[in-house]
Amino acid sequence: MILETNRLRLKALSREDLEDFYDYASNPSVGNSSLWKPHENLEESKNILEEFVLSEEFFGIHHKLDEKMIGIIGLHQDELRTLDKTVCREIGYGINYKYWNKGYMTEAASEVIRYGFEELNLKIMTGTTSKRNTRSQNVMTKLNMKKEGILRMGWQDYKGQLQDKYCYSILREEFLQDKE
Ligand SMILES: CC(C)(COP(=O)(O)OP(=O)(O)OC[C@H]1O[C@@H](n2cnc3c(N)ncnc32)[C@H](O)[C@@H]1OP(=O)(O)O)[C@@H](O)C(=O)NCCC(=O)NCCS
Repeated sequence: MILETNRLRLKALSREDLEDFYDYASNPSVGNSSLWKPHENLEESKNILEEFVLSEEFFGIHHKLDEKMIGIIGLHQDELRTLDKTVCREIGYGINYKYWNKGYMTEAASEVIRYGFEELNLKIMTGTTSKRNTRSQNVMTKLNMKKEGILRMGWQDYKGQLQDKYCYSILREEFLQDKE
């Protein structure tokens, strides 16, 4: 399955993406915003990439200009809901720090939302982020997702600090209305 936007190509995450995955995941700003520990070496990235590839839940986001994998985006089980993955998926994403603020994640995630509703026939798509991750909150707002609430102390980051979880979602009907 390959999804395309103006500037990007979204392909199943692969073991061949290791170097770009490490380039993405070793930058401290990326991990710290997502609450996971920045990767310290290629071996660590290799092990985590292996898990992600086997899960079959991730797209690699490739730039069409040079095919570099500049980020990842996944469609996961929403652990906060007792809904089947055929009904609901949670979006999770990250972009290589060098590519921030160029509209790439908004572009990639818009296409993944279209795919979720039009091709997977989902009824709801969700996303969560931390209170301090205003960049991710802004992306979800730009995707027309609604902020549905705050799960107080919903996360623990890798440093052991408790963080409020901001929960967003978009319903199929809202997606169809936005398209009109
Ligand atoms: C959160 C994150 C994914 C945002 O990705 P991004 O590609 O920088 O997001 P976008 O560029 O689509 O949107 C961000 C800004 O770029 C601006 N922008 C949009 N199109 C643009 C363009 N063509 N040129 C320049 N800027 C643009 C937007 O106005 C937006 O600014 P705003 O948020 O002030 O409104 C990225 O910061 C990241 O990977 N963070 C670390 C991982 C993470 O936090 N993941 C989420 C965990 S919940």
